[in-house]
Amino acid sequence: MAEQTSILLNNGTSIPQVALGVFRMPDSEETTAAVQAALEVGYRHIDTACVYGNERAVGEGLRRSGVDRGSVFVTTKLWNDDIRAHRAKDAFGESLDRLGLDYVDLYLIHWPADGWQQAWDDMQEIAASGRAKAIGVSNFHQHHMNELLANSDVVPAADQVESSPQFTNQELVDYLHGKGITPEAWSPLGGTGGNLLTDPLLAEIGAKYGKTAAQVVIRWHIQRGVVVLPKSTHADRIRQNIDVFDFALTDADMSAINTLSTGKRNGADPDNFSF
Ligand code: A2P
Repeated sequence: MAEQTSILLNNGTSIPQVALGVFRMPDSEETTAAVQAALEVGYRHIDTACVYGNERAVGEGLRRSGVDRGSVFVTTKLWNDDIRAHRAKDAFGESLDRLGLDYVDLYLIHWPADGWQQAWDDMQEIAASGRAKAIGVSNFHQHHMNELLANSDVVPAADQVESSPQFTNQELVDYLHGKGITPEAWSPLGGTGGNLLTDPLLAEIGAKYGKTAAQVVIRWHIQRGVVVLPKSTHADRIRQNIDVFDFALTDADMSAINTLSTGKRNGADPDNFSF
C-alpha cells in the first residue's frame, strides 16, 4: 500500500489523515476485532469517545494487534455530562483507565456544552501533565472558537465537525485552516443510513481510478486537508477505506464532488443540541 499522509498539528505532533472511527460500535469483541483488523492493514489512528462506550474494547484491540503504542494515534473525547459537572480531569483519568493507556494523542471537548470554557482550562492542565499530547474541540462553530481564542493563549489542535460531500462545512473548514487548527470530519461518508455512496457521480469518478465511491469520498477529504474518520465494522471495508493513497482526484473531480452538497446536516447542529 502507498504511504499514508499525515498532517502536522499545531502542538508539533503528526496526525495520520485516515482514522478508524468507532461511533456506534459496541464495547465488545466486534470492536476489538475491528480495531485489530484496522491496525493490521495499516491504520495508525483510532478515534473513540467516552460516550461511545467502547474505550475498553478499543484499548484491547490496540494491545491485541501488537502494534507499538508509540506508532498509533489515539483520540478520545470528554462527554457533555462531565463538561456540565466540571469533572474534566476525573473523566479524563477514567477514559485512560478504560483504554488501558497512560496517555492519549488527542483529547477533545466533544460538544460545546455549558461549562466548556472551564473544561478548556482543565484540558490545558491535562496537556501540561503530558497525558494528552494534544488537546482540541469538536462540534465548535466559528463563534465558539472565536470565544475560546479570545480567552485562551492555547489554540486547539483540532476541531472535529460534521463534513461530507453532502454537508461540506467548507466555510468552517477554511476558517480552521486559517487559524492553524486541523479540521477533522465525522460522518465523512454521509453517515449510517445515508444515500451519499450510491450517487452515480461517485461511481463514475471511481471507475476512472479503479476505486469505490467510499474511496473517492475519503480521497476528497484528504485533498481538502481534512482528517477523515470513516467507520466500518467490516474487514473488507476497513481495508478499502485506507487504500486511498495510490491515486489523486483532479481539480475537476473535486469540483464535481462539491456539487453533491445539499447544505443539510446528518447530525445535530452545535447551536441546538439536547444531549
Ligand atoms: P458498516 O459499518 O456496516 O461498514 P460514516 O463514517 O460517514 O459515519 O459512515 C459510515 C457508514 O458507511 C456505515 O454505515 C458503514 O457501514 C458504511 N461504510 C463504511 N465504509 C464503507 C465502504 N467502504 N463502502 C460502503 N459503505 C461503507
